[in-house]
Amino acid sequence: MQKFIRFNSENNTFTLSNNHITYIMEIVEHTYLVHRYWGKQITDYHFSNRPLLKKKTFAATPNNEKPEISPEFLPFEFPFPHQGDYRNSAVQILQENTNEITRFCYNSHEIQNDAIELTDLPHARNTDEQAQTLIIYLYDQISEIELALYYTIFENSSVIVRSSRVKNIGAQSIKVTKLLSASIDTRYDQQLSTTFYGTHQKEFQLNRSQIQHGLFKIGSSRGASSPQYPPFVALSKDASEFQGEVHAMTLIYSGNHEIALERDQYNHLRIQIGLNSETFSWRLEAGEMFYSPQALLSYSDQGFNGSSQSFHQFFTDHLIHPTWKSKDRPILINSWEMTYYDVNEQLIRKLIDTASDLGFETVVLDDGWFGQRNSSKTSLGDWHVDTEKFPTGIKPLVDYAKQKNIGFGIWFEPEMISPNTELIQKHPDWIMKSKNYEPLLGRSQYILDLTNLEVQEFIIRTLSKAITEFGVNYIKWDMNRHMTDPFSQIQTFDSSEYSHRYILGFYRILNELTNIYPNVLFENCSSGGGRLDPGMLFYFPQTWISDNTDGLDRQQIQYGASYLFPISSITGHVSDVPNHQTNRVVSFKTRAALASSTNMGYEMAIIQMTKKEKESIRNHLKEYKQERAIIMKGTFYRLHSPFDGNTCAWMFSNEEQAIIYVFRNVYQVYDLSLLIKIPALDSQSLYQEQATKQVYSGSELTNCGLALENAKGDFIVQKIHLKKLEQ
Ligand code: GLA
Repeated sequence: MQKFIRFNSENNTFTLSNNHITYIMEIVEHTYLVHRYWGKQITDYHFSNRPLLKKKTFAATPNNEKPEISPEFLPFEFPFPHQGDYRNSAVQILQENTNEITRFCYNSHEIQNDAIELTDLPHARNTDEQAQTLIIYLYDQISEIELALYYTIFENSSVIVRSSRVKNIGAQSIKVTKLLSASIDTRYDQQLSTTFYGTHQKEFQLNRSQIQHGLFKIGSSRGASSPQYPPFVALSKDASEFQGEVHAMTLIYSGNHEIALERDQYNHLRIQIGLNSETFSWRLEAGEMFYSPQALLSYSDQGFNGSSQSFHQFFTDHLIHPTWKSKDRPILINSWEMTYYDVNEQLIRKLIDTASDLGFETVVLDDGWFGQRNSSKTSLGDWHVDTEKFPTGIKPLVDYAKQKNIGFGIWFEPEMISPNTELIQKHPDWIMKSKNYEPLLGRSQYILDLTNLEVQEFIIRTLSKAITEFGVNYIKWDMNRHMTDPFSQIQTFDSSEYSHRYILGFYRILNELTNIYPNVLFENCSSGGGRLDPGMLFYFPQTWISDNTDGLDRQQIQYGASYLFPISSITGHVSDVPNHQTNRVVSFKTRAALASSTNMGYEMAIIQMTKKEKESIRNHLKEYKQERAIIMKGTFYRLHSPFDGNTCAWMFSNEEQAIIYVFRNVYQVYDLSLLIKIPALDSQSLYQEQATKQVYSGSELTNCGLALENAKGDFIVQKIHLKKLEQ
């Protein structure tokens, strides 16, 4: 077993290092655990960057002889309040006598030879890749609280996994009111911050800005990770997509989170991620423990593409379920934008016929098949087949699809309940609501109380039944509203524990279902990307990232999502025009190219197409199947940002070939031609472009670039497909 973690007892430093990344901490004065370095691999450390501290008025000190050792300046690994740090803390604990003061000092540490598997939270999975975990125990002997900090490093990943755990060693109960997963103090060096904001139909909007003095905080209090500010933050100074250092953080968690950046009065920069402390608390009785979710800290010296590629690799290797890691995902035809709620047996039979004829691999029956579901107002929870629409049920359709050699999937929104359902009449106490208030509706529905074991069992039973009785091999799991009134009618814990307990209940259901049915493909959806985060990836190999299928808006949404998520995990559908969300008309070629840049499918009335239209679809599917391996498993590069002008371009490549899509939106008469520089080619090899059969050297395509025609018209796409020629 190789060693990636070392403790040097002579200078009290911890070093985590592999060929890509190094992370260093020091125990100062045998007490404080401080941060020294997170970045490119270094061979040896002799405190070259340790700040020369000075005594300062107002700076408190534990040792009057050394006033320069003040918590006010120390770069803490896990800052706590009321002890002179005066910045945003990472942990806060209320003790029984309402005392909030704690003082955590280094106590001991241990090193384990693998990654940590959390039983009730998604986590970085152990695989064949060697890993080590450092656990540092901080202890407050007055309050008798132990704080354990976990750091895992894998052999080949430029990612450090961090998390924390509080243990109540004393006899009195305590209340954890804040526990982040990671906190890092570094020098402010004119870094920019990159985060995302977004909304329904406009997810993953890039937000790159200067960091001012003070506290910048984003997060979610929506009960889901949410598109508002997904759990991602990066720091970069002069990085481009290809060059420069990028430090990025994300969280393996699907509920309320927070990200804080604090640039302080001495120009130190604190960067933090974890559970949202405004919507969280957790009571611990004597001997009990609480684990935070895991944060992922990635470092790249190859710009933002490098940062994304290391997340893509890490998610594929350590989050996505091993069954689905490298399995081809079926090309779907989904019924939603075809007829919305108006589905029936005859229609779906026709859909199966057309789908199998054109080369689709799975038919998905979306919303509308159960209860009396003719609008969003009813029937969630009454998961019995609507026999008016499907007189012989769903199973004959699944069997019919099987005969035609294609799969069958079905839509569920398992966490929800509509008013006027049998379920609500039977179990009014299953609704999420506080004692004194009528809960708010969202999309005409309430949320089920997933902290209730009976509710969890109901959902597991309902989905198991659909999987076994219908025989479906795909489930689209939707969540079309976010939380309000987050409380249970039957539980007695504090309401501020609720949001996290909901997520634990949710994860328990997903654990059960994905363990019992590892071969069923679960697709995540929350009106698109309303709950997309690394935690969801642990259970859902793919996500419908936006309800917006428009040929322009999708460029930004897919571009943004690729900062974190591997292409295999992002689904994209070709839909009809005028687009149902924007009314915009964009050519089939452009819409197809956008969907082809993801885990591809369709959602349109293919049964009503002309012969010519069907032929185009058949050809598109054929082409995608030929290219699926490189799109799903190749390396993804962003080439030109749609947040930055009129074009968007990206590329998929492996050793032998590269596929580049260039989207040029509005035609400008003064652009004589477009020029695109193509990175990551072998400079010693020749490449042939497949449409024109022209041959170019790799070095000229990278350095001179390739000139493309600036064709008239808006929203056009050009595809460049390069194949390396044998030497
Ligand atoms: C959400 C999803 C859609 C569709 C509808 C069904 O909006 O994002 O894809 O499934 O629900 O009601």
